[in-house]
Amino acid sequence: MGQTAKIQCGDQGFEVPLIVGSEGETALDIRQLRAKTGMITYDPGYGNTGACLSAVTFIDGEKGILRYRGYPIEQLAEKSTFLEVAMLLLNGELPRKDELVSFTGEITRHTMIHEDMKWLYRSLPKDAHPMAVCAAVVGALSTFYPGLQDNTDSTKVNAAILRLMAKLPTIAAGAHKHSIGQPFIYPDNSLDYCSNFLKMMFGTPCEPYMVDPVVARALDRLLILHADHEQNCSTSSVRMVGSSQPPLYASISAGISALWGPLHGGANQEVIEMLERIEREEGSAENFLDRAKDRNDTTKLMGFGHRVYKNHDPRALILKATAREVLERLGVRSKLLEIAMKLEERALSDDYFVSRKLYPNVDFYSGIIYKAIGIPVNMFTVLFAIGRLPGWIAHWKEMHADREARISRPRQVYTGAQKRDYVAIAQR
Ligand code: CMC
Repeated sequence: MGQTAKIQCGDQGFEVPLIVGSEGETALDIRQLRAKTGMITYDPGYGNTGACLSAVTFIDGEKGILRYRGYPIEQLAEKSTFLEVAMLLLNGELPRKDELVSFTGEITRHTMIHEDMKWLYRSLPKDAHPMAVCAAVVGALSTFYPGLQDNTDSTKVNAAILRLMAKLPTIAAGAHKHSIGQPFIYPDNSLDYCSNFLKMMFGTPCEPYMVDPVVARALDRLLILHADHEQNCSTSSVRMVGSSQPPLYASISAGISALWGPLHGGANQEVIEMLERIEREEGSAENFLDRAKDRNDTTKLMGFGHRVYKNHDPRALILKATAREVLERLGVRSKLLEIAMKLEERALSDDYFVSRKLYPNVDFYSGIIYKAIGIPVNMFTVLFAIGRLPGWIAHWKEMHADREARISRPRQVYTGAQKRDYVAIAQR
């Protein structure tokens, strides 16, 4: 018998097994709680609930540690590439050279989307948010590849994974081209993952497009930093939808929708809009922070705070340094970076933020880099989605391989009306 803990419910004692993770995190295994005591737990937002065992990503929010499959994010951001990190997340190990070459080749050869998918874009308004467009088009992949929907057939699942990884940048660039009324640019098999995306975003049929290697490398690093973050809202959505066992594309479409919100991936767009507002209104950092601290004001310091990190978000530290480096190499002077650094400095010496352990998160500096490399603001969250895709898929795979996984179906504490009899409309 392993370690246990005792839960006392009134005069009834209940022994629960403890589960200890590989980094020492301990959980009460309450699977028998309701059967044995008739009680459930109450945990809105799931801040204390472990919904699965996972070997993909480790975070220590108190120490500011993030590791994919055991590898520190700092090392991966500096030394790896996005496709290598994707393989690490998807398969559990860093690939050998021949494996990476083969995977990259497969991705490169599946980047085109079905020509008929363009009709789907044409049926959507031009001013639609690209996250909505991407969620719709990714969901529609199930209709274009119905033969790949058997989740128990690993050959079909692998083909679906390759298609998603290969086509999401094409789908995303298509959303942008549709919004500005330009023709879609076909993928170019001679280019790497990020260069290809940049060409599809910014190229036109009228003239050659030269990819700036500084921009392509910056984008690759951004994607690495976003590639996974254990049980965040969108990943949990992918798992939750996946738990009822629809095709992979349906789960990923749900993940894109969850990521869109301003409290999650949508914060990167909100941060840049916040910085631009401060610049436009010539407001000082102090004024803005006062509003963010005021309980009667709905303003938040976007890009600050995190459910798990109660210390520096390691991704934000890398991004701050990367922002400086990229702006310098591109010769861009950014007033927004200055405002962001001032906001950070003031917030980190302000008792409101210090006492609540609110630090810059991944979204605080990423938008400044996206802006410097020419990405339109409404595409920021789409880039987050491209980056997060291998993480979503890794969790989806892990869940499908987990013999203990069950359909996600939380319980509730009912607080509505007790039984009452129907009253005919004339008597109400
Ligand atoms: N500005 C001002 N006050 C804040 C902020 C903020 N950005 N974040 C949290 N607080 C306050 C909050 O009002 C609460 O105060 P009090 O204790 O007086 O009620 C306290 O700090 C704890 O916050 P919480 O809302 O209970 O924390 P949470 O874990 O439920 O929410 C969060 C986490 C990320 C949604 C929240 O910090 C937030 O809304 N941040 C701004 C949006 C943002 O940057 N989101 C990106 C998250 S990181 C990347 C990603 O997941 O995509």
